[in-house]
Amino acid sequence: MEVFEPWRLILAAVLAGFLHFQVLCTSDVAPNYTFMQEATKAPPVAYYDYIIIGGGTAGCPLAATLSQNFRVLLLERGGSPYGNQNITNLATFTDTLTDTSPTSPAQSFVSEDGVVNTRARVLGGGTCLNAGFYTHADPEFVQKAGLDLDLVNRSYQWVEKVMVFEPQLRQWQSAVRDGLLEVGVLPYNGYTFEHIYGTKVGGTIFDKDNHRHTAADLLQYANPSGLTVLLYATVHRILFKTKGQSKTAAHGVIFKDGAGNEHRAYLSKETDKGSMGEIIVSAGALGSPQLLILSGIGPAQHLKSLGIKVLLDQPWVGQGMADNPLNVIVVPSPSPVEVSLAQQVGITRLGTYIEAISGSISSDSLD
Ligand SMILES: *[C@@H]1O[C@H](CO)[C@@H](O)[C@H](O)[C@H]1NC(C)=O
Ligand SMILES: *[C@@H]1O[C@H](CO)[C@@H](O)[C@H](O)[C@H]1NC(C)=O
Ligand SMILES: *[C@@H]1O[C@H](CO)[C@@H](O)[C@H](O)[C@H]1NC(C)=O
Repeated sequence: MEVFEPWRLILAAVLAGFLHFQVLCTSDVAPNYTFMQEATKAPPVAYYDYIIIGGGTAGCPLAATLSQNFRVLLLERGGSPYGNQNITNLATFTDTLTDTSPTSPAQSFVSEDGVVNTRARVLGGGTCLNAGFYTHADPEFVQKAGLDLDLVNRSYQWVEKVMVFEPQLRQWQSAVRDGLLEVGVLPYNGYTFEHIYGTKVGGTIFDKDNHRHTAADLLQYANPSGLTVLLYATVHRILFKTKGQSKTAAHGVIFKDGAGNEHRAYLSKETDKGSMGEIIVSAGALGSPQLLILSGIGPAQHLKSLGIKVLLDQPWVGQGMADNPLNVIVVPSPSPVEVSLAQQVGITRLGTYIEAISGSISSDSLD
């Protein structure tokens, strides 16, 4: 059943936050980004205003935004999604997920309680693997998170312009809609991004030719002269130094390229443009706490047991991880069924989300 686990990533397509609405910059077109290269080509030491660790659903839009005014380094441990047919085509949705080779963009893992799951290892992150359903966050959630609702609304448009499409409901998905309405998941809200009760058609990141668009496409908004994207760059440690009397601050990172060579990137000392000089960790729910722990930030006992020097005893790092429960019902069909991924959702007042996919699924994924 492992093929269905990455559905948990569906909501990763809900982007919120720190994006500015920008005019589409056409000077750099995916996949021929001039600012993107393999980390083996990076110098041993380089300086930037911002260093972003993790080129996923959060890191790509953040890098594009910051590059408008600053020199930005985006470090991604995986490769480019461009040219990989498994990622691009809707029909090969399950192929990537079942590819467990060391170079697969889908890295499988098993949680401590035995749940088989997948993490992304590719520029664009979870948007390269998930079922590509797009919806807005509940405005109440946005408010509780302390985000600027107006900025979030404008960010939605920024994202939708390049990677969200209205799905074409065919046989299967039309039947799913009728089924949801028949069992009383009401009202029918039609095509909308609003987070509301009932049955609705949402956005999809697959275009009319069934080609997947990913968060890596948001890099076309970047200012090419402000951005460096390094692929196969695995960050091993964040470097800290003590500023003045007592303030300890991150000032650089150590990363290895695909050939195993070590590089360092540091924050520039002087910036005339008001850079905050930050190292931003957007390496995912597992990758981010892992990197903090490797860098000496985490529960002191845990760090000591691993022989890591404790920089900050922060007991909550790596804690509180939870999986959303997922129940899957598989209905085998005697005849071939069209391939479709989630295009609509039934949101019930019980707090459940009902979605459906159809099509052929490779037999080993159903073991
Ligand atoms: C990217 O570069 C390749 C090889 O030079 C070229 O064939 C392709 O048309 C380019 N794609 C775009 C979108 O510019
Ligand atoms: C696509 O997926 C198949 C099946 O998992 C795998 O064997 C193949 O190497 C993948 N292709 C690429 C380009 O990653
Ligand atoms: C943002 O969008 C939501 C949903 O469309 C709307 O309710 C809200 O008023 C908007 N807020 C702002 C500040 O634009």
